[in-house]
Amino acid sequence: MKTYRVLVIPGDGIGKEVTACGKRVLERVGEKFGHRFVFEEALIGHAAIEATGSPLPDETIEKARATDAILFGAVGHPDYDNDPSLSVRPEQGLLKIRKELGLFANLRPIKPFDELLDASPIKPEVLKGADILFFRELTGDVYFGERGRREGGNVAYDTMVYARYEVERIARKAFEAARSRRRKLTSVDKANVLESSRLWREVVNDLARQYPDVTVEHLFVDTAAMKLIKDPRSFDVVLTGNLFGDILTDEASQIAGSMGMLASASLGDTVGLYEPIHGSAHDIAGKDVANPLASILSASLMLDISFGLKPEADAVTEAVAQTLREGFRTADIADARTPGEKVLNTEAMGKKVTERI
Ligand code: IPM
Ligand code: MG
Repeated sequence: MKTYRVLVIPGDGIGKEVTACGKRVLERVGEKFGHRFVFEEALIGHAAIEATGSPLPDETIEKARATDAILFGAVGHPDYDNDPSLSVRPEQGLLKIRKELGLFANLRPIKPFDELLDASPIKPEVLKGADILFFRELTGDVYFGERGRREGGNVAYDTMVYARYEVERIARKAFEAARSRRRKLTSVDKANVLESSRLWREVVNDLARQYPDVTVEHLFVDTAAMKLIKDPRSFDVVLTGNLFGDILTDEASQIAGSMGMLASASLGDTVGLYEPIHGSAHDIAGKDVANPLASILSASLMLDISFGLKPEADAVTEAVAQTLREGFRTADIADARTPGEKVLNTEAMGKKVTERI
């Protein structure tokens, strides 16, 4: 029996509740398919600041380097959101772990379950069949560029900066993925204004010559934001930078019905980190009402990408689909117009899916 080591980093807010469900799903897969998953836990974010003073303790990094894959929850705390003067912040933990582990490619698949077409604010006939794979660059851009204050603190700046190799390595992954899908790649930038975007576009065009079978389209980010809602089916693989990708994938989550549905994989050259795209959602934390499906679907991505267990990954996704087909919903994806719907809490939803694997 093969052993897979998984580091669970629940983080803050609803992170604990949802990763508990993701973890249980992995345990179930272990039982059903005859694998052994061994789990460790580590701290990050506000939870880590409280316990150690640091949003990313060294111990967490050491554990992360020693594991086969990471199941991540969320980071953030309202006290910090409302007090910009605090210099140690929960989010720094997440940004730092991405950087330290070299997780430069964030894959965010957007594919609505047919059962949830009515849960989206977008018309079902516009959505049906949409299947988008975002490649969001994750360790560069304005997130990591030089920042500061000058003129006595009255002027603030953040620098959007990209190096050729940073664009090239993620673009390559996106081209490869497009090859195994519908062979269309949409690169999103703001090259009509930004120099970093002009470099981005140059690199993508250079690389495109090596992928003549992939159709490349360039969109400005404002146009992309509009087209995602107007015609989500026109996208296949979307390649974009860190900030644009952060914003566009929250927008695109509505194609899948809810932020609570979207899983992601953060990849580099070593260990993969699997995280919902949603945040810590303190307004609903500890109430057992959060949607655990993003964490469960993140576990499915882990099985597929880090462990090469595609049938197991599909069994998890199918268990989610079946649970939805049977009418079970969490509050965020409930739709009063759908007859026969049963609204479940976090743990109960996790249990339904687990039983169906
Ligand atoms: C995400 C989140 C993070 C980001 C925050 C929590 C720092 O919004 O993963 O999308 O901006 O990358
Ligand atoms: Mg985000």
